[in-house]
Amino acid sequence: GAARALARLESAFRVPKQKLHEIVKHFAKEMDRGLAAPNQTLKMIPSFVVNLPKGSETGTYLALDLGGSNFRVCEVTLEGAGSSGAVSNVRMRQRKYVVSDDLKTGRGTDLFDFFADCVREFLVENGIHATDPAHNELVLGFTFSFPCSQTAINKGALMHWTKGFTASGVEGQDPVQLLQDAFHRKQLRVRVASLVNDTVGTLVAHAYQDPSTHLGIILGTGTNAAYVERIDRIPKWDGPIPASGKMIVNTEWGAFDQEGVVLPLTSYDSVLDRQSAHPHLQTYEKMVSGLYLGEVMRLVLADLASTGELFRGVSSTVLTTPYSIDTALMSRIERDHSAELADVRVVLEDLISIPKTSAEDRRIVKRVAELIGTRSARLAAAGVAAIVSKINRLDDCTVAIDGSLFEHYPHYANRMRDALREIVGIAADNILLVQARDGSGQGAALIAALADA
Ligand code: BG6
Ligand code: GLC
Repeated sequence: GAARALARLESAFRVPKQKLHEIVKHFAKEMDRGLAAPNQTLKMIPSFVVNLPKGSETGTYLALDLGGSNFRVCEVTLEGAGSSGAVSNVRMRQRKYVVSDDLKTGRGTDLFDFFADCVREFLVENGIHATDPAHNELVLGFTFSFPCSQTAINKGALMHWTKGFTASGVEGQDPVQLLQDAFHRKQLRVRVASLVNDTVGTLVAHAYQDPSTHLGIILGTGTNAAYVERIDRIPKWDGPIPASGKMIVNTEWGAFDQEGVVLPLTSYDSVLDRQSAHPHLQTYEKMVSGLYLGEVMRLVLADLASTGELFRGVSSTVLTTPYSIDTALMSRIERDHSAELADVRVVLEDLISIPKTSAEDRRIVKRVAELIGTRSARLAAAGVAAIVSKINRLDDCTVAIDGSLFEHYPHYANRMRDALREIVGIAADNILLVQARDGSGQGAALIAALADA
């Protein structure tokens, strides 16, 4: 029973070294295709950000950050390099708001009106004037973390929603325009100066402090990466050639392998995909990111309960309800190192309503979490390796990583490092995976500053 079940899962969820190599190779091919032509699986979107900040930028900007587990309004003050010239200072005031499921899946205009209302509330609370014509217009950077094809630093179109959002009337539209219209409806004198993906914001914000940063990655609700590319390596780019010769590219790697060529999908992944808000899209994201890991785990446990291989065949309403297991619960399960797995018992019995668990049940549940969590980290490492190799920075590269998964999931960074070592050998020691925090708001402000200059 149980031993056989575990053996089956071990082989389904393991990503051996050979597989990692295959994935990296396919990644490289797909990135090239995305850079060569529009509408490929990897969208490889030119961000119109052609300069990393110098660290001397100054000014006060607003930023709005949508797409992670929180929606935030920030006021960012860039103080430039300190008198020592070494460190660039950023001051930030921010407030988080909850975007309800109704807003995520309702009418787009309601969603954008809500954003404008939040901005108004934030401004009032902080005594910032935004309706008085005697004051200058406020400038805002918009971090909108969904795939947008861009035609300017402050212009783009949402290609399709991801991560459970389905609000109507937004796909195909320019989010900047929608936000600007909402500000007009609410009589706020705020100008939207930049449209920024969270990965791009994270990269730019980190580079403000550490110029060796060439990748910005999100491992949170969703997953994605942006990096600095040479413009002559972007054949599909037909705009002006920037003096820097460079362009930050938003890979939208969450879509990787939508064709199912190389990723080791299990039957659970297929069920999750079929029942998701966006079937056939974001295949890699569904195996890697926080919105989905708990759900993969739930599907596995529900299956083992139904075959009698777990919990003596007993299930629960929680266990049969989609998305009832949050990835944070998985983290908690992995964090339990006690002999009897006492906290795993609390999670299973109190939160997932399984009446009585055996020590063996709990051991299996913990192992399932490890398998799913490790698979995620190893797949993420394959993506990092593919990009770092592509830009020839195996000798020295800082990777700025934000998101709740990387920050809170136990052993995540170590598992990524182990996989990186399997892929690129000792060069892995030159790839610094650094925790970035709240970067994308700052990044959006910096990009607004760069655009304004
Ligand atoms: C935040 C960034 O720190 O991390 C957001 O400001 C980003 O832009 C988010 O989307 C990702 O993390 P999570 O876990 O909230 O999805
Ligand atoms: C999803 C979005 C992408 C974003 C990522 C992380 O993959 O499509 O734009 O960067 O989530 O938030």
